[in-house]
Amino acid sequence: MKVLGIETSCDETGVAVYDTEAGLRAHALYSQIALHAEYGGVVPELASRDHVRKLLPLIRQTLAESGMAVDDIDGVAYTAGPGLVGALLVGAGVARALAWALDVPAVAVHHMEGHLLAPLMEDDQSDPLRGRPEPPFVALLVSGGHTQLVAVDAIGRYRLLGETLDDAAGEAFDKTAKLMGLPYPGGPQLAALAGQGRAGAFRFPRPMTNRPGLDFSFSGLKTQVLLAWRDSDKTDQTRADIARAFEEAVVDTLAIKCERALDAAGCDTLVVAGGVGANTRLRERLTAMTAARGGRTCFPRPAFCTDNGAMIAFAGALRLQAGQREDASVRVTPRWDM
Ligand code: KG4
Ligand code: ZN
Repeated sequence: MKVLGIETSCDETGVAVYDTEAGLRAHALYSQIALHAEYGGVVPELASRDHVRKLLPLIRQTLAESGMAVDDIDGVAYTAGPGLVGALLVGAGVARALAWALDVPAVAVHHMEGHLLAPLMEDDQSDPLRGRPEPPFVALLVSGGHTQLVAVDAIGRYRLLGETLDDAAGEAFDKTAKLMGLPYPGGPQLAALAGQGRAGAFRFPRPMTNRPGLDFSFSGLKTQVLLAWRDSDKTDQTRADIARAFEEAVVDTLAIKCERALDAAGCDTLVVAGGVGANTRLRERLTAMTAARGGRTCFPRPAFCTDNGAMIAFAGALRLQAGQREDASVRVTPRWDM
């Protein structure tokens, strides 16, 4: 089964074709970062309009790269939420119309389920540590909008173990970057800067780790950075030192809670997904933590940690293969629990 996947929930237009026999056939991504940069964040109306401009050309490009004609497609999967309502509607409208014209099924995909399943696309048989993870496992979802620990009992059977009570981890990276004067989107830049910081120059708390539970809170950490930056000499080295201490605090906190979640779920396999999963220090720390207990951590390749069409095509393919069918109405769900 060959499934076209469409992602338009925020500021990236993502398209891919996933073939349940041959794997990922092609994928293409258009990022709107430059469009929103001057506003310091995503402007919803501009995002919708840009998806309208870019989606059809990207679909054509992806099909051409996959070597397939449009009528080779057996199904269409699209992100139906959570996300920006106007942006979601662009993907949903195009997906439903295309599916109707081709007389194939279309399926609505939950954006976070897409992230959660992305590591399962990676199937490097040459390396036992990189082979496809099989449920049960614990998933850490860390994106700009979500920070969740989920017990995955089976594909489609998820139990929420813990989540953030305020800012998501990616949001904390972005806001912290912004308050130290880094341009939007600051998360990856803050992470790059942290690499030049000196160990031990600053230290921030590991929020909510000294009491039981699997929930997170990152907004206090941001305030700690604000105070440290305000009272500092504001040199480039200090900015890097603070970035390093902030990154260490977030990574440590995530690692402590992940270990607790593995204990609670009785699992040794951790799957990490979402934009913050691209963070090198987090990848190293979680890999070491699970290795020390005889388990492993599975990540998507960094390009599939952040938003992309491939994860939506893959999640949709699994649902269509399982027989899921929907009527032709164009529905989106801007706020949606997984
Ligand atoms: O999953 P994603 O692309 O979009 C959402 O669904 O939110 O995640 C984007 C988030 C942003 O907050 C971005 O700052 C963060 O992921 N991010 C990173 C890194 N790369 C992306 N945070 C820390 N380190 C990185 N290397
Ligand atoms: Zn996302």
